[in-house]
Amino acid sequence: MKMKTEILKLLRETDGYVSGQQISEQFGVSRTAVWKVIRQLQDDGYQVEAVRNKGYHIVDSPDVMTKEELASLMKTRWAGRNILYYDVTDSTNLRIKQAGDEGAPHGTLAVADRQTAGRGRRGRTWESPAGSSIYMSILLRPEIAPNKASMLTLVMALNVVEGIQECIGNDRDIQIKWPNDIIINGKKLAGILTEMSSQIDYINHVTVGVGINVNTTDFPEEIAQTATSLRIECGHTVKRAPLIAAVMERLEENYETFLETEDLSGLLDRYNALLVNCDRDVQIIGAKETYQAHAIGIDHTGELIVRREDGSIEKINAGEVSVRGVYGYT
Ligand code: BTN
Repeated sequence: MKMKTEILKLLRETDGYVSGQQISEQFGVSRTAVWKVIRQLQDDGYQVEAVRNKGYHIVDSPDVMTKEELASLMKTRWAGRNILYYDVTDSTNLRIKQAGDEGAPHGTLAVADRQTAGRGRRGRTWESPAGSSIYMSILLRPEIAPNKASMLTLVMALNVVEGIQECIGNDRDIQIKWPNDIIINGKKLAGILTEMSSQIDYINHVTVGVGINVNTTDFPEEIAQTATSLRIECGHTVKRAPLIAAVMERLEENYETFLETEDLSGLLDRYNALLVNCDRDVQIIGAKETYQAHAIGIDHTGELIVRREDGSIEKINAGEVSVRGVYGYT
């Protein structure tokens, strides 16, 4: 860990003041070197108080997103331990795919403050302005059959909801629109784009990209009716770095549960409890036909179980269809 990250961690984890002497002894550097790091932290936006004879104390850390901030908050073993941070990049999914090809470790996380070529599902673009949202992608190297990889999208949807709940409390109704849109008050809060590099029977690596509208207040006209942000829904800003760290923690645990059975058996109940489509009429829009059915929930493979109007039960695969509520977006 870099010295700046470690000092940040130390300041954050200490209730009172940490003396310059203590820091300089702990890291084996001069008091001037310590002061320089403190100045850098202040430049990054931290309010660090320096009191003569007492030392340093973090009063507040606003919505800082730097590699050091992220690293100092990470409590995981592998998820988000290797961080690639960009003030601006084309797409974090592209960065992670490249890192994957170049041999980066399982759990490598790319985060950007802004994307110039943010990508959504079905070839759409993902608006990615600076300073307000989370754009991140994670590299996974699961030793499972390629046809099981699409379940990772559902695992991530669960991580995102649980991470958000951990940061803002779970009294707000955050839900999942199968398979992987995160919804609050009937509007889209976050989306997930999973991409895989594989052979016929072997996964090279999987990139799971997540976009969360955190402090966004204005959306482009095309999505203004269907998109929302945590800030709009909660009425206050939310810090991005702790939210990323919370999602990484949930990922580490839920991913390991997933690997135990290589399916969603261990996560099914929690996923279905969050499912906005659960026990609701939905419209199934497939390549061949569009029909109305009643959604029951997902099974252990992540397929959506629906009851057609004639009473027959069908399982819907996420890749093949899109599902709409009968009345509007969800
Ligand atoms: C969707 O269409 O709902 C999926 C949106 C996924 C957006 C995220 S932002 C971070 C990562 N990088 C991308 O280019 N896309 C994903």
